[in-house]
Amino acid sequence: MGEVILSLKISVIGTGYLGATHAACMAELGFEVVGLDTNPKKIEQLAAGVLPFHEPGLPELLRKHTSSGRLRFTTSYAEVGSWADVHFIAVGTPQKAGDHAADMTYVDGATSTLASHITKDCLIVGKSTVPVGTARRLGALINEQIEGDAKVGLLWNPEFLREGYAVEDTLRPDRLVVGGDSTAAIDVLRQVYATAINAGTPFIATDLETAELVKSAANAFLATKISFINAFSEVTEQVGGDIRVLADAIGLDNRIGRRFLNAGVGFGGGCLPKDIRALQARISELGLDRTMRFLTEVDEINLRRRDRVVHLAHEILEDIQGRKIAILGVAFKPHSDDVRDSPALDVAAQLFNAGADVSVYDPEGMANARLRFPRLNYATSAIDALRDSALTILLTEWDEFKTLDPSEVGQMVESKSIIDGRNVLRADVWQDEGWRFESLGRKSVYPDGAPFRSVCS
Ligand code: UGA
Repeated sequence: MGEVILSLKISVIGTGYLGATHAACMAELGFEVVGLDTNPKKIEQLAAGVLPFHEPGLPELLRKHTSSGRLRFTTSYAEVGSWADVHFIAVGTPQKAGDHAADMTYVDGATSTLASHITKDCLIVGKSTVPVGTARRLGALINEQIEGDAKVGLLWNPEFLREGYAVEDTLRPDRLVVGGDSTAAIDVLRQVYATAINAGTPFIATDLETAELVKSAANAFLATKISFINAFSEVTEQVGGDIRVLADAIGLDNRIGRRFLNAGVGFGGGCLPKDIRALQARISELGLDRTMRFLTEVDEINLRRRDRVVHLAHEILEDIQGRKIAILGVAFKPHSDDVRDSPALDVAAQLFNAGADVSVYDPEGMANARLRFPRLNYATSAIDALRDSALTILLTEWDEFKTLDPSEVGQMVESKSIIDGRNVLRADVWQDEGWRFESLGRKSVYPDGAPFRSVCS
């Protein structure tokens, strides 16, 4: 007996990070799914089972369901508009050029084009991260575009997946949030997410505005938590102390929690930076100028950490002109090839622009980094990057960097100086091998010469 195919037909509009993951996971849950994108090259790749970005576990799901026929891809709105019962909007909302606000071109365009091609009763479900008020505005846009007598419902269902854990987060989310005006429409999403709901995942049904805001609030909180600990790392750098021990100690208070208290070069990626700016821009637009002003500080603290690394490099090398600097990591975080707003790539570019001979290495992010900054030297391995370098800077905490042997790499470099931009290396071990060791937030003088073993390392 073949596998049961669930009766709701699903389309996912936009097959970037979010959309491709969502489409493959919906197929995995048993639905027939069509992914739509206006980029024919992307569609061709996905249809052939080729994922155009790095995401653990996703290529396997994509291949499984493109071969079974349960997951298809198209560039045709007419095809999905006459076929799907539930359309997920998963297009991007990047930061507008020269402005902090979100660029809504893709969400507006995708929604109105879809609506103009709808010929059967269906639901449109927004997943993109949007400024509050978008869903209601889109509702009016949809009504203008619908021809014929198809009934179309609108819901907002924000996505909380993390890059690097996208499949796990989609199939086994920690919560589901759905906003809308119609209980019947929300019940349809209960069917879509029945597997997770039956496994005990909390399902929060609310209004459109709350659903939109939940997403902005979650990312703003995470960004604030990171900048909070990074602000304290500025203090421990100045007065002495160990930011990791401080984070462990406050994190043991359950009300605070240890996660997202890793101090270092700060947050980047395609989400947190642009989302805190877009939130602030939207809230100011609503006349609440002061309400989210603290997010400017959150942003500034974050960017200052990058400057701190550059400053430390100047301090260590004195004259950085022509000196070889090895940068370990260009992705904005491990398990990702994403270099959007990557602190690591930003630091590499700043040092390059200041005249250093910068050699970078990242297990996954090289191709994307090369597209953005073709003039950096792209090494073939961590060792290749490190060879003859006057300074080593660890900026993305990939396992292979965390386990580098200071004695072995010490024989390859020109000068034994390292900046641990993610606070993941043992200072004492590196120092014992004769390295000058700098980090973001650790200037400890330990009572017995040995650091407290970090409970979360
Ligand atoms: C983030 C959120 O965590 C997701 O819940 C959300 O769905 C997603 O944005 C989104 O809006 O689409 P992501 O951008 O994949 O996910 O990355 P995170 O794991 O949140 O990390 C963001 C940045 O913060 C990285 O640069 C990471 O290195 C940095 N970070 C994280 C720290 O500097 N310290 C920490 O303690 C944790």
